[in-house]
Amino acid sequence: MKTLKTQVAIIGAGPSGLLLGQLLHNAGIDTVILERQTPDYVLGRIRAGVLEQGMVDLLRQAGVGQRMDAEGLPHDGFELVLNDRRVHIDLKGLTGGKNVMVYGQTEVTRDLMAAREAAGARTLYLASDAQPHDMQTEHPFVTFEHEGQTWRLDCDYIAGCDGFHGVARQSIPAEKLKVFERVYPFGWLGVLADTPPVHEELVYARHDRGFALCSMRSKTRTRYYLQVPAEENVADWPDERFWGELKNRLPADLADALITGPSIEKSIAPLRSFVVEPMQHGRMFLVGDAAHIVPPTGAKGLNLAASDVSTLFNILLKVYRDGRVDLLERYSAICLRRVWKAERFSWWMTSMLHRFDDDAFNQRISEAELEYFLDSEAGRKTIAENYVGLPYEAIE
Ligand code: APR
Ligand code: PHB
Repeated sequence: MKTLKTQVAIIGAGPSGLLLGQLLHNAGIDTVILERQTPDYVLGRIRAGVLEQGMVDLLRQAGVGQRMDAEGLPHDGFELVLNDRRVHIDLKGLTGGKNVMVYGQTEVTRDLMAAREAAGARTLYLASDAQPHDMQTEHPFVTFEHEGQTWRLDCDYIAGCDGFHGVARQSIPAEKLKVFERVYPFGWLGVLADTPPVHEELVYARHDRGFALCSMRSKTRTRYYLQVPAEENVADWPDERFWGELKNRLPADLADALITGPSIEKSIAPLRSFVVEPMQHGRMFLVGDAAHIVPPTGAKGLNLAASDVSTLFNILLKVYRDGRVDLLERYSAICLRRVWKAERFSWWMTSMLHRFDDDAFNQRISEAELEYFLDSEAGRKTIAENYVGLPYEAIE
């Protein structure tokens, strides 16, 4: 078996692994990233694109903010639509000056990959069968296969940044973990198109036919979503059907303004809320989607990954610089405080905006609740405060 050595072994080169790797590298802490896919495969996944101020700041801190600052679109507000009534959520005004940045996860990932390559830090793509070992000792290691060889990567710590289907969480004994989960009875059908956005801000619409979202990647590329039944098939949604249904669910002025075009990507994503506790096991730490999933309605998935990264990075910095190993055991509790608040907001946004085919009483109650929030400044403020992102938790 061939051997390698590093300080922090990172499993997964999604945004969590790459951002953690970049911050650690800049701080002089050595990392190796193991990724089972190719870079192109990782970049081919279309994900969300709304960055909270905290994540924007973290990307700048990591030295990868230049293209985001040049090409990203700062959004000072968004719209919520309740049965044809458009309500503006003035993020900036309601939060004392905060906003969000529209910049796709694919672009964030591309920038992080380029920075890592420029820095000469090690990433092994097409690394298969990664398996963490001895996490509860002072000498953990990861074994994996690469280019026909079996490798052993010795390290001080392991960061499980390998997403919901990764190996890190699965390698923790089940009896050590508590799982919290809610699966929703619908999915989101997403379309990417090279068309100008229907409105300059994002529009989240609750409609009797189901939820719709108008989002964008740039001034010339749009991303639209429709709530569809969980078992729906993409093949049953040719472009004309998608655009027609989107118009059905938008207020007349927006439907009239909608410019359609051929889709360049179309996929259905299930909606799920999921949290595992604790987010650590010995010297292995779960980061991002490996530990939690939110439904996309609040645009929180990527941002939560960034706040986990920030927490782990700041703890590891104190460990390596000041010998503060006592902080390590606090990682999970610090992350979970913020994770659960984002889980709550994502669940709430999902509950308020989607059509649930349950009893009629619940339908009226959730409609009344959303109307109440939209009519009340306190309600709009609560939505805005959560949407721009709650503050990162202090590590001590
Ligand atoms: N070995 C090596 N790499 C793995 C393994 C494994 N066993 N399992 C998964 N991976 C890789 C995946 O191929 C993927 O590139 O780990 C990476 C995980 O990336 P993401 O799923 O993107 O998760 P994360 O980096 O935590 O990103 C946060 O927030 O907006 C949400 O879901 C969205 O991806 C986004 C996430
Ligand atoms: C997206 O642009 O893909 C997007 C935006 C906001 C969301 C979810 C997805 O809440």
